[in-house]
Amino acid sequence: GKVGVLFGGRSAEREVSIMSGSGVLNALRSKGIDAHPFDPAERNIAELADEKFDSVFIALHGRYGEDGAIQGVLEHLNIPYTGSGVMASSVGMDKIFTKRIWQTHNISTPAYAVLTPDSDLGQVVHDLGLPLIAKPPHEGSTIGITKVTSQEQMQEAYSLAARFDDVVLAEQFIAGRELTVPVLGTGKDARALPIIEIVAPDGNYDYQNKYFTDDTRYLCPAPLSDELTAAIQDMVVKAYRSLDCEGWARIDVLLRETDQQPFLLEINTSPGMTGHSLVPMAARAIGMSYEDLCVEILRTARL
Ligand code: DAL
Ligand code: MG
Repeated sequence: GKVGVLFGGRSAEREVSIMSGSGVLNALRSKGIDAHPFDPAERNIAELADEKFDSVFIALHGRYGEDGAIQGVLEHLNIPYTGSGVMASSVGMDKIFTKRIWQTHNISTPAYAVLTPDSDLGQVVHDLGLPLIAKPPHEGSTIGITKVTSQEQMQEAYSLAARFDDVVLAEQFIAGRELTVPVLGTGKDARALPIIEIVAPDGNYDYQNKYFTDDTRYLCPAPLSDELTAAIQDMVVKAYRSLDCEGWARIDVLLRETDQQPFLLEINTSPGMTGHSLVPMAARAIGMSYEDLCVEILRTARL
């Protein structure tokens, strides 16, 4: 049937989505699939109905694409789509709500505070300690994030994150190794792919190092004991199921250096599929090509 690949969109991650979606489009076409691009920022969304897509691969990131908004439109139009449904997408896009769900499932995630314009930033620094991380709860790709190392930096970090969101998430900084774990499948079939360890220059895995430099090193499978690998993979699958995610996702993890305890940071329900992206890297480690991965994800498309 006719497949739509949704990419572009109007979130702060538009540029990333264009890289992801172009890759997916070419991969599906190379497998003989009748795939067509659709950019919801450039087209009238009503034209989605006119296209008569039999299914849709969502390669949008961020607001309106990863947060349940487009998923709701597709539900209305009866078009099967890849990835999580409306609720899991919107909860997953919100780092604060994600943490609340994980806490109720005893899945460890860094201590945090929710900041509003009325917050006493000095008190937050006192409670969480330094360094801490300030971030907008609804963004991706490290946009709007500051590592705060002094009390004086706090106001500026808050203001930067508040440009993107009404509230700001402040999180305790976990010193340790940076890991990420893709999950494929739904419900009982959900399984973790190999863990990737990210070794960024100066520990700074920012927007530039994510997509444009070749200075970041990736170790896949991450050099961890078999026991720790299995424990982290189990934890990630449990976290994925706790949000009722479907199809695929990628969960970012910090492994605290003092005691090797894993902390889950966030879930990406429409993860990057760029040439630098991590889900394709983990798939390759189990012998699954980028093209096969795209076909496998497309196969999970449903309403
Ligand atoms: N938010 C980006 C696309 C990712 O997590 O891969
Ligand atoms: Mg993210």
